[in-house]
Amino acid sequence: MTDLYAVMGNPIGHSKSPQIHTAFAKITDQDLLYSAILVPLDGFDAAVDDFFRRGGKGLNITVPFKENAWRYADAFSARAKRAQAVNTLIQQDDGTVLADNTDGVGMVRDITVNQNVAIESKRVLILGAGGAVRGVLQPVLEQSPAEVVIANRTVSKAEALAADFTDLGCVSGCGFADVKGEFDLIINGTSASLAGELPPIPAACMTDKTVSYDMMYGAETTVFNQWALDNGAAKAIDGLGMLVEQAAEAFRLWRDVLPQTQAVMNALREDRRA
Ligand code: ATR
Repeated sequence: MTDLYAVMGNPIGHSKSPQIHTAFAKITDQDLLYSAILVPLDGFDAAVDDFFRRGGKGLNITVPFKENAWRYADAFSARAKRAQAVNTLIQQDDGTVLADNTDGVGMVRDITVNQNVAIESKRVLILGAGGAVRGVLQPVLEQSPAEVVIANRTVSKAEALAADFTDLGCVSGCGFADVKGEFDLIINGTSASLAGELPPIPAACMTDKTVSYDMMYGAETTVFNQWALDNGAAKAIDGLGMLVEQAAEAFRLWRDVLPQTQAVMNALREDRRA
């Protein structure tokens, strides 16, 4: 029987997940059907109940239901607990639902494997202290960077977020103007790019070896990546690879096989150019 998977959100029309997972299924020769489900704002639990009752095996969860998914799940992976957010639900054999967060592992795999950029022993600056940044901190710290500095517009949020992760490595929080020294990797996890805005960090934190990574992506180079390139960055990477890799990790959790991602990434980049 064909196994069912889906992404739930509202809106959902823009989601690339059906295209990505359908391609993964083809690449790995798995018999599954992946659809996008538009869920009414007050209907999350009922929609998930209905999906699993129909034999659904797993779900991706997107805006605005990540909190609802958190409340719905019966059990959590360690990284989902740290992230306090969930993007993947897995129906287990005993009928309970396990929640995971694959964003951080996806981003780290994109940086270290696809882009061949090391995090180990490097100085890493992360901009932003919201849900997107919390979601990636554990996998970043597991790479053993020399130091992670979290800089945010609201300084207290950066400090509080850093304090939640100090047991995992050398991590501190500050304001944008307080960023000191040079960094090997600068990750933009603010939503400023959505408004075409730029977090005001000192250009002195960039060298010609610095790599910039924007968790966002779009048809054009993001404002942040353009700023990094204008200030001499060695390389600027956008979040398309993170999108594909977080999906690959969800696919692995569901199907126990990690799909090759390069062809899917190429196809998405082609679509974006078209
Ligand atoms: P997400 O889930 O995308 O992380 P969020 O939790 O609302 O969304 O967090 C958004 C992040 O982007 C925050 O770090 C926010 O800074 P504040 O904590 O000071 O609000 C940051 N952000 C949003 N717009 C920004 C801007 N124009 N300049 C700098 N930072 C911005």
